[in-house]
Amino acid sequence: MEIERGVAEARAAAASLSRPLGFVPTMGALHAGHLALVSAARAECRAVAASLYVNPLQFGAGEDFERYPRDFERDRAQLAAAGADLLFAPDSAAMPVAFSAIDLGSIEDRFEGEWRPGHFRGVATVVAKLLDIMRPDVLYLGQKDAQQTAVVRRMVRDLKLGVEVRVVPTVRDADGLALSSRNAYLSSDERRAAPSLHAMLQRVRTSMESGIDKGSAIAEARPTLSAPGALDYLDVVDADSFEPIETLRAPAFIIAAARFGRTRLLDNLWIR
Ligand code: PAJ
Repeated sequence: MEIERGVAEARAAAASLSRPLGFVPTMGALHAGHLALVSAARAECRAVAASLYVNPLQFGAGEDFERYPRDFERDRAQLAAAGADLLFAPDSAAMPVAFSAIDLGSIEDRFEGEWRPGHFRGVATVVAKLLDIMRPDVLYLGQKDAQQTAVVRRMVRDLKLGVEVRVVPTVRDADGLALSSRNAYLSSDERRAAPSLHAMLQRVRTSMESGIDKGSAIAEARPTLSAPGALDYLDVVDADSFEPIETLRAPAFIIAAARFGRTRLLDNLWIR
């Protein structure tokens, strides 16, 4: 696996790879969820590029940018073993943060956008930069960050970026907890309570499938989140617009976010 730190070098390296080229952007601290994206790209494309960049634009003041887990050597070895051909790992000097940014309208203001102002603007801006450098044919994103998939798919469509977007199903621990780099922050009590987030989403789905209306299904499921979990939101949204919908029909996500101590966890069920 080739490693590039500079933008011009990464651009040239990506341009010389076979086509179709699959691209997996990450912030490192890799786990089996990230590696599932690399495997999907490996299965569908002739070459695979990944990026590893903890993007300061998508962290708010007081968030975990400084303490975000960083272990380059471990990440490098995992990507190489999973079959990536190229790793773009810029340092911050290579990705200067200036004034230009991508604005995606109201989809940025709901749910995660409301809890993390500016977050999706930062995500969309860095993904646009990375796509311009790597010029892949297929972009791989995880279902785990459902609103991120909607934001990026909208950007790709609106700006005619000419890349296909593939969404790979969430990889979970045996007890249902979605894998996340942030799970490492959980205390043992918080870790024990965390799978109740996934169980709560499944309750909403089961209730709505049996004909219970959304309001009642959500009201009944909310109290099942285990302490010390504190719910930020629980809703059913259209998969493309992220507008709340009242009935369970595809394509949709049942989405939730909750705080366990200082750690915010996201999860969703994809109705396809
Ligand atoms: P990061 O959190 O490192 O995630 C990189 C990719 O892995 C994202 O597409 C994310 O949805 C996916 N992923 C994370 N956990 C997963 C799981 N349990 N199962 C399946 N996929 C999972 O998301 C970002 O980085 C950044 O916002 C980025 C897109 C790289 C832009 O900076």
